[in-house]
Amino acid sequence: MRPLVLTSLLLGSSLVFATGCDSSSRDVREWKPTDHDQPLGQQPGQVAARPRSSAEQGPDQSLVEIAWQRNCASCHGQRGKGDGPQGAMVRAPDLTRSDWQGQVTDEQVAEVIRKGRNRMPPFGNLPDQVIMGLVGRIRANRSP
Ligand code: HEC
Repeated sequence: MRPLVLTSLLLGSSLVFATGCDSSSRDVREWKPTDHDQPLGQQPGQVAARPRSSAEQGPDQSLVEIAWQRNCASCHGQRGKGDGPQGAMVRAPDLTRSDWQGQVTDEQVAEVIRKGRNRMPPFGNLPDQVIMGLVGRIRANRSP
């Protein structure tokens, strides 16, 4: 959540700054009632902040990425192929395998992540959204 807060803080302060600059030139002309109708912090003609596309959306996505790097990559590797530094030692399975992905449901995958299995440690302490995000990340790395 923090990156979003930081972004809005930065955005907010730059808007205040822009308004401050402009008001000095506006002081010379007469005040009109329409001046009041402008949305706060936005000058006429100023383009509103670009909406974020779904691909770059979200602190959630970066949280999932952080969770993967911290908790999973050491065994399962970057893409889930089981080639992390400890992958061979614990025999981490290749999660990109199409045949495996085809036979498990999202809920079953989430269940293994929550409860662990054999040498796979449990991660039930992770928030549900992050667990489901990890499932999504595994799905996104399915081999053709
Ligand atoms: C210490 C190494 C290790 C870590 C860390 C680890 N795993 Fe695993 N993982 C394994 C091993 C070993 C298995 C195979 C367990 C078994 O069935 O015997 C496994 C199995 C799985 C499976 C089930 C695969 C199947 O065949 O059903 C999923 C899904 C999975 N891991 C996801 C994750 C995710 C997501 C994380 C991070 C939150 C993670 N793992 C962290 C070692 C690890």
